[in-house]
Amino acid sequence: MLRIGPLGLDSPLILAPLAGYSDLPFRLLCREFGAGLVVSEMISCHGLVYQQAGTLAMLTSISEERPLSIQLFGADPMVMAQATALLRPFKPELIDINMGCPVRKVTKRGAGSALMNTPALARQIIQAVVKEATVPVTVKTRIGVNSDRITAVEFAQMAEDAGAAAITVHGRTWAQGFTGQADWQTIALVKKKVSIPVIGNGDIENYQDAQDRMAESGCDGVMIGRGALGNPWAFSADGRPASLAGLLPGVRRHLELMAEHLPTERMLGVIKSQIGRYFRDLPHSSHYRQLVFACPDFATLRREINALG
Ligand SMILES: Cc1cc2nc3c(=O)[nH]c(=O)nc-3n(C[C@H](O)[C@H](O)[C@H](O)COP(=O)(O)O)c2cc1C
Repeated sequence: MLRIGPLGLDSPLILAPLAGYSDLPFRLLCREFGAGLVVSEMISCHGLVYQQAGTLAMLTSISEERPLSIQLFGADPMVMAQATALLRPFKPELIDINMGCPVRKVTKRGAGSALMNTPALARQIIQAVVKEATVPVTVKTRIGVNSDRITAVEFAQMAEDAGAAAITVHGRTWAQGFTGQADWQTIALVKKKVSIPVIGNGDIENYQDAQDRMAESGCDGVMIGRGALGNPWAFSADGRPASLAGLLPGVRRHLELMAEHLPTERMLGVIKSQIGRYFRDLPHSSHYRQLVFACPDFATLRREINALG
């Protein structure tokens, strides 16, 4: 069983933080399909400290999705500590620190992937968050800045020493962004060199991939990101249904959870992009995607999906 501090997970397969996607309905759905832990979208420590409405909305949670890890990003240890204290009323089971996001908006302020360039600052951030937190603190990072500077082992050792309770390693460099393939050999090396749980991440498409990557790398758990979009079956041993009839119950459940927990009209664009992904492997997939994208409102979208069978 994967244990992070005192928290035991009933599955080592974890839904990765996905800005714009890992909202409450999708997290609930993935838990229902077998994910052992779900992670929020990344939350700006400044947004939290300034109590910005958009940031606070992302913190909405209900007991059915627990355990929940809330991910913070930022580059100032003091502000990260303040944000950590402000998370207490939300009672996350874990707090994760983003040290791997390559998006310029994040890195230009020294946060996300840029922290791999400044390990001393990364250490201060981890220590500051651990000091304020009443729950285990984890770190999510990449294997290094670029192919000449693969620093995952040293970085993970630093994180462990600074008090992190687990580390997630995405097997790409900052320079790679999302190109190329995840390097699971480096992830396996990290696993050998630290004693905290190591969660491997990168290019897992389905449940079998997850089992294979864990067996090969020795990782204690894995995170699934893009492979889970339109595919909550990635967390379940039964696997993804091949037919439209098999997929529809999952699509309908996702729509139901969206109707319950999202301002559906305001988020129609996001909803369509999530729902469109369910049909990706079907013959005539573009027909279904067009049908989804042509819906003028959420009620029509539900009706059209219900009419499919
Ligand atoms: C749309 C999108 C949003 C993401 N948002 C976050 C985020 O908020 N925090 C984070 O640490 N990683 C984020 N990531 C990275 C993923 O968590 C994951 O590390 C990466 O996609 C590799 O895993 P995968 O191959 O399973 O997708 C994001 C990735 C994508 C594609």
